[in-house]
Formats: sequence, structure tokens, C-alpha cells
Amino acid sequence: MTVFKDKTNLSNFILKLKQRDTSIGLVPTMGALHDGHASLIREGLKENDVVVVSIFVNPTQFNRSEDLTNYPRNFEKDLEFLANVSEDHIIVYAPSVDDIYEEGVDSECFDFDGLEHEMEGKFRPGHFDGVGTIIKKLFNIIKPKSAYFGKKDYQQLLIIKKLAEKEQLDVAVKGCDIYRDKNGLAMSSRNERLTPLQLKAAPFIYETLKTAKIKFGTKSAMQLTQWVKAQFKHNDFLKLEYFLIANAKTLKTIERKSTKNKYRAFIAVYAGEVRLIDNIALN
Ligand code: PAJ
Repeated sequence: MTVFKDKTNLSNFILKLKQRDTSIGLVPTMGALHDGHASLIREGLKENDVVVVSIFVNPTQFNRSEDLTNYPRNFEKDLEFLANVSEDHIIVYAPSVDDIYEEGVDSECFDFDGLEHEMEGKFRPGHFDGVGTIIKKLFNIIKPKSAYFGKKDYQQLLIIKKLAEKEQLDVAVKGCDIYRDKNGLAMSSRNERLTPLQLKAAPFIYETLKTAKIKFGTKSAMQLTQWVKAQFKHNDFLKLEYFLIANAKTLKTIERKSTKNKYRAFIAVYAGEVRLIDNIALN
């Protein structure tokens, strides 16, 4: 496995690979790798000769400085993890902040046609400008044929598709299914920070989403939202930040459903200080 810490060496290496017609996939991550990340990398390896995995905790997408400070980092463990996924076909790019943000640690301001103002955008101001900034930089350095993102961060996936379209970037942005623990909890680097009791309580999030999906057939969006709120009211470990039902394309919260559209339910929950998100297709 080849590891690069600076973009010039990486770009030169990639250029040589491309001259030999090697196809390049990209899986951007913030490290603390888990099986959810591995599922994206495996998808990338199926479709490309080589997958670049970037490991970079991007400061501009954190709106709470404690969240950035507490974000789990373990580079050596991540390298071991990747070696077990594929020793030969992975390139790691793990830059320093200076290597990526040469001109200062600032976000570019993007217009994602309103996608950025929904859900996570409301609760994490500036977050998607930070995500857009880092992904645009990575796309420009690596110029991958395809890039893989998880539906776990469904809004992020739609925003990156929009970024590629608006900036006319020559990359196929692919969405991969949410990878879950046996108990249903969506895998996340943040799960590492949960106490044993919080970890035991957390599968309730997906259980609630699954029941909401069943109820979606007979209840209105408003009734369903009220029902979910009531489920979390007396939970000692999980505090609901939001639950909403949105149009799967526009991410606009719906009041009334129509059979023509696709909908998803989105949820954000605090377990102590740790913020967990999940979502599910409803129809
Ligand atoms: P990170 O949280 O490390 O996630 C990296 C990628 O893994 C994202 O596309 C995310 O959606 C995907 N992922 C995480 N958990 C998953 C799961 N359980 N199942 C499927 N995919 C999962 O998302 C980010 O980093 C950052 O915002 C990033 C895109 C790297 C930009 O900094």
C-alpha cells in the first residue's frame, strides 16, 4: 500500500498510473475507519484498478470546535485496517492541513440549489461549504473516474452530486448503501465515543426508522413525526434533535405525500455529547 502525505507526489504518481490506463476510484474519509468505509472501498475496487482513500479530518466542515477536537484519530490503526481490505490496490492520501489548505483554512461559498439549507444545513451552519471545499480540492488533485459516498450521509451525497454537476467535474459520484452493525446501528466513526450503555441504547434509532417505514403506509407525515417524537420522549440515553420526512430528491420536508414522489425519513439524535444520524427510504 502506498501512502502519500503531499499532493504533488500523489498527483505525479496518479499521472503515471493514468498514462498506463489505470482507472482510479476515490473514497474520501476522515479516518477512524470501520466496515462502513470498507464497503465503499470494496465497491470502488470492483469498478476500478486502484482506489485512493483519503484520510483527512477536515476542519472547515466542523461547526463545533469540541467536535473537531474530539473526532477520533488513529492513523496507524487505519493503515492496518486498509491493508486488510486490499494490500495492493489502495493508495492512501493523508495530507496535513497545510498541504490541503495552502491559501488559508477557509471554505468556499457554494450554491447547491437549496439542498444545503435543509436538515443538517440548519443544524450545522457552514458544514456543507466545508464539505464542498474539501471534496472539490480532492477531485481536482486526484481526478478520479468515480468517487464513492455513503447514503448514511444522504444529504452529503446529493450535495456532492450537485457539486460535480455545477462545477462540471468529470467524475461519476456513486451512492453506496448504509452499512449496519448486526443490531442495526449504522456504522460511524462517532460510535467509538459511545459509552457501553449508550451503545446498547443506540440501535433504537434504526428500530424506530424501520417501524416508521411500516407506519408510513397508513399515517400522515405529521402523525408519523409526532409518533417518532413520542418514542424518544422518555428515552434516558437518546435525545432526538430532529426527525423529518423529506422528498428524496429535493430534501424538502413534506407535509403531504403523493404517490409520484420518493420519500426518505431522516433522523439526528444525541447520545450524550455524540451526535448520530441515520435515514431510511420510505417508498
Ligand atoms: P466520514 O464520516 O469518514 O465518511 C466517509 C464516507 O463513508 C462518507 O461517504 C460516508 O457517508 C461513508 N460512510 C460512513 N459510515 C457509513 C456506513 N455506515 N455505511 C455506508 N457508508 C458510510 O463523510 C465524511 O467522512 C466527510 O464529510 C468527507 C466526505 C470525507 C469530507 O470530509
